Amino acid sequence: MRLLVTGGAGYIGSVVTLHLLRAGHEVTVLDDLSTGHADGVPDGARLVDGDIADTAAAVLADGPAYDGVLHFAAKALVAESVEHPERYWHTNVAGTLALLDAMRANAVPRLVFSSTAATYGEPDEVPITETAPTRPTNPYGASKLAVDLMITSEARAHGLGAVSLRYFNVAGASDGCGERHSPETHIVPIALQVVRGQRETFAVFGTDYPTPDGTCIRDYVHVDDLAEAHLLALDATGPGEHRIYNLGNGAGFSVLDVVEAVRRVTGHPLPVTSSPRRPGDPAVLVASSARIREDLGWHPGRPTLDEMVADAWAFERAGADGR
Ligand code: UFG
Repeated sequence: MRLLVTGGAGYIGSVVTLHLLRAGHEVTVLDDLSTGHADGVPDGARLVDGDIADTAAAVLADGPAYDGVLHFAAKALVAESVEHPERYWHTNVAGTLALLDAMRANAVPRLVFSSTAATYGEPDEVPITETAPTRPTNPYGASKLAVDLMITSEARAHGLGAVSLRYFNVAGASDGCGERHSPETHIVPIALQVVRGQRETFAVFGTDYPTPDGTCIRDYVHVDDLAEAHLLALDATGPGEHRIYNLGNGAGFSVLDVVEAVRRVTGHPLPVTSSPRRPGDPAVLVASSARIREDLGWHPGRPTLDEMVADAWAFERAGADGR
């Protein structure tokens, strides 16, 4: 298929691009490089440097018709979204609206959208299913939920075939593509910064949660498994239908479980300190991914924390030598 990947210079977008190229698809990446990296775009994909709102229409109108779009370009920092919500409405919502207009104008039939567990907010029950109430607790989650609603109505009214994948916690790296955020906020790369001597200790945000070891529990999924779900989703899109799937392993690991995995994989003692809770962190977020397993036959092939940490660590070490 001829595909457009928005945000394909970012962490998840670049890994999905890699998987799409390997499966024989032709990929154009559209990325404004505000948080992505041009050298992170896998060889074989064409990179267009531009903003979705201004550039998507021209890209989609150029050359043979596109068969689909995988949409990752977004702002994705919870804390920033609380401080500057307008950035989230602008980029995530207005940007996606412009993309949908451009897709409709160019009769692009398929969309796979990068949604998030943050659309659910604080859950009443875990594991979280797709029928759980959506009550986002920050503008980031609200903006992604708004896009999901937009896509549902677009599919109904205009026949778009779409799948939204609601990610839980993504970790790991794939063949030269990994996490390079600035500032970094995610648990695995931050722990690896301690291992590399860039931080003295790892701060555990909250040790008094109602969980067995007092730290937050999350559902970590390997970025390669997540990428495979996008390829399945692309094939599963049907005209006029918007499907929503949660993506996680269905198993919860605490912050201290992640710390232990980093110690095991790297052999570093990884000193930790107890810090206050980070505002807005729910105690437990675990996905039920039963729906995508049943409907699309998705099976995470790399479900252990050690595999995710080992791949992230290999990526970090490769970067230390020159990236
Ligand atoms: N944590 C620490 N110390 C750190 C960094 C993180 O203790 O230095 C803890 C957090 O408090 C949390 C867990 O590690 O309990 C995971 O934190 P991350 O920041 O790695 O991930 P989040 O669960 O906060 O965020 C993820 C996605 C967001 C999404 C959110 C809710 O990255 O995009 O899940 O779905 F909004």
